[in-house]
Amino acid sequence: MEIRYLGHGGFQINFNESQLIIDPFVSGNPLAKSIDIDNLEADYILLTHGHEDHVLDAESIAKKFGSTIISNFEIVSWYGAREILGHPMNHGGKYRFEFGCVKYVNAIHSSVLPDGTYGGNPGGFVIWNDEKGKDNICIYIAGDTALTIDMKLIPETCPKIDLAILPIGDNFTMGYEDAALAAEFVNASKIIGCHYDTFPPIVIDRKSAVDCFRKRGKELILLDIGSQINI
Ligand code: NI
Ligand code: MN
Repeated sequence: MEIRYLGHGGFQINFNESQLIIDPFVSGNPLAKSIDIDNLEADYILLTHGHEDHVLDAESIAKKFGSTIISNFEIVSWYGAREILGHPMNHGGKYRFEFGCVKYVNAIHSSVLPDGTYGGNPGGFVIWNDEKGKDNICIYIAGDTALTIDMKLIPETCPKIDLAILPIGDNFTMGYEDAALAAEFVNASKIIGCHYDTFPPIVIDRKSAVDCFRKRGKELILLDIGSQINI
């Protein structure tokens, strides 16, 4: 699995030959100028919730590449009215796509679409594959969320999490102190941080964040925007 950071809550993931884009917010993010938005190709666009800093570029990418939106029922319906393909899910449900399974899990946050339409309840995704001969990585993408005890259900109900993508910027989501505890709740030792530094209220001290995870025996990875890791 290749994971490339698009800035804020956005990632491009290549998994079992499918291109996934998570929460694209590139054209509105001055920190993401290094990303060539015209080349952000996606088979699937996964949206954790409806806030503009997560969905801003979803429509243009989906229309260009015929991508399928994976999100909750309300968000997929909103895009469906714009003639964009979608696969609706809701909390606790999982579905097997060509690249692997996706489970839509709880997040504690809010959700409204850019035009004010109700966006349903926000969520996160667990993505994995357990078919032989394919890449068997399992990742957890928390989306915007507070620390919640619900995260303890993830290791009980999903395969072992190889990597967790957690918001760490505080103010709108959990900060890195709570995120380090979230990493314990989901039993992940490797974490990519996101949702930090984009706006003044979520600027963080990176060294303090990394140290905070290290104290719990966890590795916090802070990717440069545009860079990628393979796991
Ligand atoms: Ni949000
Ligand atoms: Mn957000």
